[in-house]
Amino acid sequence: MLIRIYKILIFVLCIVSSMLILLGLYQTQASYGQLDKLLVGFSRRRTFITGNGIKEHKINVTDNDKNNTQRNNQTTRKTSSIFLDYQQVLKSGNFSMNQSVNISEVRPDKCDACFPQSSYIYKNDNLCSTNNSTTQVKLLIIILTAISETHNRTTVRKTWTSISNKNTRELRYVFVLGKHAKDPTFNMRALEEAKIYGDIIIKDFMDVYNNLTLKTMSGLKWASDFCSNAKYVMKTDTDVYVNTPRLLQLIDSFKIENEIIGRCILHPTPMRNETSKYYISPVQYPHLTYPLYCIGGPGYVTTMKVVKGIVSVSPNIPFFFIEDVYVGLCNEALGYKVRSVKEFQKNKVKRTVCWLKRTIACHPLSPREIIKTWNTRC
Ligand SMILES: *[C@@H]1O[C@H](CO)[C@@H](O)[C@H](O)[C@H]1NC(C)=O
Ligand SMILES: *[C@@H]1O[C@H](CO)[C@@H](O)[C@H](O)[C@H]1NC(C)=O
Ligand SMILES: *[C@@H]1O[C@H](CO)[C@@H](O)[C@H](O)[C@H]1NC(C)=O
Ligand SMILES: *[C@@H]1O[C@H](CO)[C@@H](O)[C@H](O)[C@H]1NC(C)=O
Ligand SMILES: *[C@@H]1O[C@H](CO)[C@@H](O)[C@H](O)[C@H]1NC(C)=O
Ligand SMILES: *[C@@H]1O[C@H](CO)[C@@H](O)[C@H](O)[C@H]1NC(C)=O
Ligand SMILES: *[C@@H]1O[C@H](CO)[C@@H](O)[C@H](O)[C@H]1NC(C)=O
Ligand SMILES: *[C@@H]1O[C@H](CO)[C@@H](O)[C@H](O)[C@H]1NC(C)=O
Ligand SMILES: *[C@@H]1O[C@H](CO)[C@@H](O)[C@H](O)[C@H]1NC(C)=O
Ligand SMILES: *[C@@H]1O[C@H](CO)[C@@H](O)[C@H](O)[C@H]1NC(C)=O
Ligand SMILES: *[C@@H]1O[C@H](CO)[C@@H](O)[C@H](O)[C@H]1NC(C)=O
Repeated sequence: MLIRIYKILIFVLCIVSSMLILLGLYQTQASYGQLDKLLVGFSRRRTFITGNGIKEHKINVTDNDKNNTQRNNQTTRKTSSIFLDYQQVLKSGNFSMNQSVNISEVRPDKCDACFPQSSYIYKNDNLCSTNNSTTQVKLLIIILTAISETHNRTTVRKTWTSISNKNTRELRYVFVLGKHAKDPTFNMRALEEAKIYGDIIIKDFMDVYNNLTLKTMSGLKWASDFCSNAKYVMKTDTDVYVNTPRLLQLIDSFKIENEIIGRCILHPTPMRNETSKYYISPVQYPHLTYPLYCIGGPGYVTTMKVVKGIVSVSPNIPFFFIEDVYVGLCNEALGYKVRSVKEFQKNKVKRTVCWLKRTIACHPLSPREIIKTWNTRC
């Protein structure tokens, strides 16, 4: 329930921020902003990409940088991009320049194995096994769900994941859970549920909104460790209707290569309105723009190769609590593209059941709407 509310709020944030961009409210420093965007892209792409995803990238904000005005000096730019970008953020966001910020606390672009790792409570490492059958795993769907949402998982089991025939077909699916933050009886129940249905993994982190990045990355890491025989991987949520038959039919025709497809944000910017509830401070994120990313509800699809890349760079990409942006940050470090595909929808307005059935993924839907959509013939 909470997760759903937060998700709606996050979408409102996305819409509001895109509207603000359209209105040009954050582009008062257009020329500087432009320069700085290029700068960030340049430094990230040139210094981050290597075979295994990461190369040494000097992020060191020295006191000298603070006084540096030689913005056209390539050497300086490369090593102090965060600081320069940070100043642009302060300017373009019309923050009080008076705010005192300890520059060493600004989120760096890279770190040394700083991303939090958590151990398994329930590993379920056999889920993608094909035993002796000839059925290969074409698509693994990782579904984010709050530990308390048993009813919602039941709905998803009865509807769009049912064609997996209890995880024995070319479609496999897995729910990712953490630990209940307050009530341990939820953990016992989740463990029982995991044993009964065999479609759950549980990891040792608090199952709360601010840990969704841990949840997403846990799912992707599990996929790369225990389901690497899957050709494609989708990440979605329990309040999504995924038209799995159609997706399986169309997935090859999308010709997904080194990229992520879904509903992707093309000009993503952090909310810089200090009075907003969704305000992201320059300390939390010092750049003018987010990397391109796709939103996790309705969901996005990529290849196992990209998933493995994201998992392998993630230890060195510092935690960021907006999970879709975090995946975008990892993807940017790899230099892969994102592509918006119109069948991935978020549309609350003209949502007739038959319209829903023509899309591949739509969001947000209640359990009742999911069942109705699944059962209707069009
Ligand atoms: C940053 O630069 C200072 C001075 O050159 C150096 O002593 C320090 O080790 C550097 N830190 C990092 C993380 O590179
Ligand atoms: C930065 O510039 C200010 C004012 O010009 C000066 O007082 C300060 O010492 C300089 N800091 C460094 C580290 O050079
Ligand atoms: C850029 O900065 C470096 C180090 O501060 C300096 O040696 C070099 O001359 C500068 N280049 C230009 C074109 O200003
Ligand atoms: C910044 O905000 C203040 C008040 O919040 C306003 O008076 C000022 O005009 C703004 N400056 C710019 C450049 O938008
Ligand atoms: C400027 O900074 C000082 C010291 O941190 C603080 O007391 C003051 O309220 C700030 N002024 C404004 C307008 O933010
Ligand atoms: C800035 O933050 C670092 C790390 O948190 C701390 O060691 C340092 O003392 C802080 N500096 C100031 C001036 O607060
Ligand atoms: C797969 O193994 C099961 C027993 O483990 C056996 O009954 C079945 O015939 C085997 N299928 C094939 C295609 O070998
Ligand atoms: C593979 O074998 C294991 C153990 O015999 C069984 O639990 C699992 O359901 C089988 N998986 C498939 C896809 O047949
Ligand atoms: C998860 O979230 C909680 C509450 O916000 C926080 O205390 C905790 O450190 C986070 N991380 C893990 C691994 O649980
Ligand atoms: C889970 O199901 C409940 C009860 O139907 C619903 O109110 C809630 O919104 C659902 N949560 C999500 C994330 O869909
Ligand atoms: C910032 O948000 C407040 C309310 O949260 C709103 O009234 C104000 O107009 C916003 N400012 C800008 C520049 O969008």
